Amino acid sequence: MHHALHDRLDLDKLISHRAKSIDASGIRKVFDLAAKMKDPINLSIGQPDFPVPDALKAAAIKAIQENKNAYTPTQGCPELLAAIWKRLGSEIGWTQDTEHGLSAIVTSGTSGALVLAMMCLLDAGDEAIIPDPYFVMYPQLGALTGGTMVLCDTYPDFRMTAARIEKLITPRTKAVIVNSPGNPTSVVLSSRELQDIVDLCAARNILLISDEIYDEFTFSESREGGRFPTPARFTKDCLLIRGFGKTYGCTGWRLGFVAGPHEIVQAIARLQQYSYVCAPSMAQYAAAHAYEIDMQPWVDRFEARRDMVMAAFDGVTEVALPGGAFYAFVKVPERLGLTASQFVEKAIARGVLVIPGKVFSKHDSHFRMSFAVKEETLARGLAELTAIMREA
Ligand SMILES: Cc1ncc(COP(=O)(O)O)c(C=O)c1O
Repeated sequence: MHHALHDRLDLDKLISHRAKSIDASGIRKVFDLAAKMKDPINLSIGQPDFPVPDALKAAAIKAIQENKNAYTPTQGCPELLAAIWKRLGSEIGWTQDTEHGLSAIVTSGTSGALVLAMMCLLDAGDEAIIPDPYFVMYPQLGALTGGTMVLCDTYPDFRMTAARIEKLITPRTKAVIVNSPGNPTSVVLSSRELQDIVDLCAARNILLISDEIYDEFTFSESREGGRFPTPARFTKDCLLIRGFGKTYGCTGWRLGFVAGPHEIVQAIARLQQYSYVCAPSMAQYAAAHAYEIDMQPWVDRFEARRDMVMAAFDGVTEVALPGGAFYAFVKVPERLGLTASQFVEKAIARGVLVIPGKVFSKHDSHFRMSFAVKEETLARGLAELTAIMREA
């Protein structure tokens, strides 16, 4: 039998609605503009500017050389799981108890944890409440799972409070994602605020998912009695998602973990077994030593950079205090009469790259700038951005 030969397949017919529904045009436009810039002051970067600590590099190399390159158990290598439990035990009093309580699984990045958690919770039409502004992946988790991501507007203070969440709950709501310190705002919620969310979720049978990828990078005033505020201190019915990439500067190693209710973690493990299989082995063996490394000097340095940002915009425009991470979400002063996208074009014309709010939000009134750059670069960027605001 002969079939007509075509030059190429009709690929458009083959690509799923799911894949087509993912719109990456906002961020792509920013990167296209960036590619045309010569020597930009690049404040768009979403990862730390320090190299991976030597001890961690050495541990990864050692693992490879010792031939620890095979699949690890789906759940994660025992050495890393032991380090994670030691940390969770001392920090929040969580201990492994697979019979009625808590489990953990190592994942391919925090992203891997988020995808699997949502795959595990949402059927078509189920809802999850996410903050607006959001980490860019959150809304797309709807496209991936068939669920609906419901935006919780947190303007103008960027606090995702129980009162704001409660209004959005429906009989289909299964999960709430809280992200503190948050991307793109770096706002840190207080223990009081988190406890209210825990209580709300408990009363309405909703799983709270706490994306704590920036936990380690929480600044002095936002640590309560020196402690990072986490909802996990008030409940075991919460899915804790943490990562290693941002904390140790190894975002390319793709390593995170989920800890929480055993049944949910087991469901995530089943999904991981038939998708990612396991997280990268050398990264797991290396990260088993990560918590021995003191990152505080870098946290202090980021806090000082945060202070530079706040000082520069003081009296010029509004910035919600970044309590951690390394972003500031800066309001374009209303008197300029510009959307954030228009402001960003002006900034780019002056050699500064920042990201317009609409990439992370329904609104286009703010821009995200990263302070994970050298102080000298940051100072130049701040001088340009404030000059544009003062000119008008
Ligand atoms: C809030 C938040 N969650 C998750 C991630 C994904 O991190 P990972 O590289 O570990 O997948 C990021 C990365 O930017 C983030 O900002």
